Amino acid sequence: MEWSHISVMKEESLAHLSLHSRGVYVDATLGLGGHTVAIADYLDAGKVIGIDTDGQALNIAKERLTAVLDKVELVQGNFVEIDSVVQNLGHRKVNGILADLGVSSMELDNPERGFSFQQDGPLDMRMNPQGQDLTAADIVNTYTEADLAELFRKYGDEIFPGRIARVIVEQRRKQELRTTQDLVELILSVVPRKRVGGIHPATRVFQALRIEVNDELTALEVFIQKSVDLLESGGRLVIISFHSGEDRIVKHIFRRLKQEQKGKIITKKPLLPSEEEKMSNPRSRSAKMRVLEKH
Ligand SMILES: C[S@@+](CC[C@H](N)C(=O)[O-])C[C@H]1O[C@@H](n2cnc3c(N)ncnc32)[C@H](O)[C@@H]1O
Repeated sequence: MEWSHISVMKEESLAHLSLHSRGVYVDATLGLGGHTVAIADYLDAGKVIGIDTDGQALNIAKERLTAVLDKVELVQGNFVEIDSVVQNLGHRKVNGILADLGVSSMELDNPERGFSFQQDGPLDMRMNPQGQDLTAADIVNTYTEADLAELFRKYGDEIFPGRIARVIVEQRRKQELRTTQDLVELILSVVPRKRVGGIHPATRVFQALRIEVNDELTALEVFIQKSVDLLESGGRLVIISFHSGEDRIVKHIFRRLKQEQKGKIITKKPLLPSEEEKMSNPRSRSAKMRVLEKH
């Protein structure tokens, strides 16, 4: 199967990284390599370090990057470890860091990975299935009703968290939930089918489970702190987020870093994709980009 992923806000990412041809850059969310190849194309004697926790993404990216492999170093790892990844490659500081958060279309469109409510597959959602234990099935089958409701509210902004948690707990007493469609059917049994605000009724629960499985928000906080320490003075951190929980964290930590005089906020308000990009790539619609420059 030929997987694809259209990179979001590519031109804006390059512009805000303020690239120079001999610099060292980190693409902390390599995915299928779309942003990395664009950075590498710009470089002359510079390097781009591409990190992804997902081994499958890394293998696909490696094939796509053959033309620029001399300028790229690829590492499988979680971006919470960005400091050791960079140092193990022999760099003390870097000139710019990019993170394009969430999952790629490759992960989302592969039913085996369990990220999509639109296709049937195991309730998995681990970005690194070899290195992580907790799956979405573990969560729905073992968390208490109260914890499930809190999770759906906190990480999904779910409008009916209690109802959904209750029906999950009732169902699992009879039989464990195993597949994405087991969960989708349960959600549809208690939430009005009419799409709330245009989104499928399972969207928020699936988002919340994915965040919990991959501990995404804690990872993001640690990543931002470490990134700022790794940047050279004048180096930029560019983050593209896709939901309010992520954007809130980026905004608050950037503000704190400004107060601590560690960085300057380049984007007073988040930058959004152009109307043209939103039309041609629906996945970009919820994207928000924030940029910080290290003092
Ligand atoms: C939106 S995709 C990136 C797409 C990429 N920019 C491109 O143009 O092809 C996000 C990628 O980040 C990876 N990812 C998410 N969280 C991560 C983390 N904490 N550490 C490393 N990789 C992560 C996912 O596995 C996924 O491949």
